[in-house]
Amino acid sequence: MDLDIRACVFDAYGTLFDVNGPARRFAGEIGDKWASFSQTWRDKQLQYTWLRTMMGTYKDFREVTADALDFAMEANGLSDPGLRARLLDLYNKIDAYPDAADTLKALKASGRTTAILSNGCTPMLSAGVTASGLGELLDHVISVDGIKVNKPNPRVYELVEEQMSVKPSNVLFVSSNAWDAHAAAHFGFNVIWLNRTGQPDERLPGAFAARGTQLADVAKFLKA
Ligand code: LAC
Repeated sequence: MDLDIRACVFDAYGTLFDVNGPARRFAGEIGDKWASFSQTWRDKQLQYTWLRTMMGTYKDFREVTADALDFAMEANGLSDPGLRARLLDLYNKIDAYPDAADTLKALKASGRTTAILSNGCTPMLSAGVTASGLGELLDHVISVDGIKVNKPNPRVYELVEEQMSVKPSNVLFVSSNAWDAHAAAHFGFNVIWLNRTGQPDERLPGAFAARGTQLADVAKFLKA
């Protein structure tokens, strides 16, 4: 298969940004259940974005993230407002995975355009990109907040061609979220699914160009 990849577009949360970082940092306060607490927070955050898109009741990602945190805290018997504030603050200054910067550098050095396409809102994405030191390595940061629907709605994937003037066949889309990877492939992007946690395959439409387990696999795939 001869691919002509001109742009590499990344999902943000869970793909470039480590969504378990905030709960891991406060594991001492949360206790042994911090990992399942973090998973509930993430699951609810995603569910609320999908459900609100279906219901036509968009709220931005910062608000949805706070709502999901409230659910996860109550479900885990946590009620400390200080902990809530510290978790949300850290989510705003989220860390990137260790191989994010080197991967983006290699892709840019190979002449490709780099971007984020995320359900995150612009202020949260800007704060995350700055905090993680990826600002110089990303040519575009595309948020859904202009259209007020979330991935996996195909309208979101259309933003890439609209804002970057690149055809879907020239895009490599990278996500560690299988549902996002399938939707992007079904839309027409070439897709790498980063299966970080050894998940079974989803039964969803959209075939992947490749699979990996970490961001460094993207540069390997492109021989960048
Ligand atoms: C994003 C979330 C869904 O960045 O991971 O779009």
